[in-house]
Amino acid sequence: MKTFLILTLLLIGFSFCFLEIYFLLAYIRSGFGKYPPFVISFGRAKNIVLNEAEKILAKTSHKTNVYDLGCGDGGLLLPLAKRFPHHVFIGYEWDWLPYLLAKFRCRNHPNIKIIKADFMKQNYHNAGLVLCYTGPYLKHRLGHKLNNELSKGTHVISEAFELDELPQKKEISSPTLKMPMKVFLYQK
Ligand SMILES: C[S@@+](CC[C@H](N)C(=O)[O-])C[C@H]1O[C@@H](n2cnc3c(N)ncnc32)[C@H](O)[C@@H]1O
Repeated sequence: MKTFLILTLLLIGFSFCFLEIYFLLAYIRSGFGKYPPFVISFGRAKNIVLNEAEKILAKTSHKTNVYDLGCGDGGLLLPLAKRFPHHVFIGYEWDWLPYLLAKFRCRNHPNIKIIKADFMKQNYHNAGLVLCYTGPYLKHRLGHKLNNELSKGTHVISEAFELDELPQKKEISSPTLKMPMKVFLYQK
């Protein structure tokens, strides 16, 4: 009994240290908080993003590319890819922990591609829909990049953070955990 207790405490201690080191490295990797950390979409904001994406994709009969910039564990791509098997879903994720989680969760869905890469170094000219959940540092940089690269008519859904330059269609209030969050919809 005593050995079991000691082993459990050691396991908890090691897990705690591992997570501390992981979050420290992720914070350094993100340019000391410039790029968004691994925080999964949840609650009302997540539902709104999924609902709005579904509305757009339901109206799109031809095969279209949907990008999730920083796809985390694939929490947005998975339900959309199940519902729209004829569309292609591409998630970029540079952090190995969410990348491996997303790879594993999406393994049985051939219409999902999880790619370990920096989403700022990709090109989105062939996108039909772009999803993102970024932060203030990328407001101008990503807004400018998308506005330059996207084809006319492409939709962008940005959770929690506004993007510059892109023509705004709508903003939806999505209070989550009593935080006054919003979802921003754009169309090039
Ligand atoms: C706020 S989370 C998005 C969560 C995701 N939408 C979900 O539902 O799980 C942002 C993610 O973007 C990733 N990320 C941040 N900057 C990135 C970059 N430049 N390239 C690729 N991934 C990035 C982070 O590692 C993190 O997992």
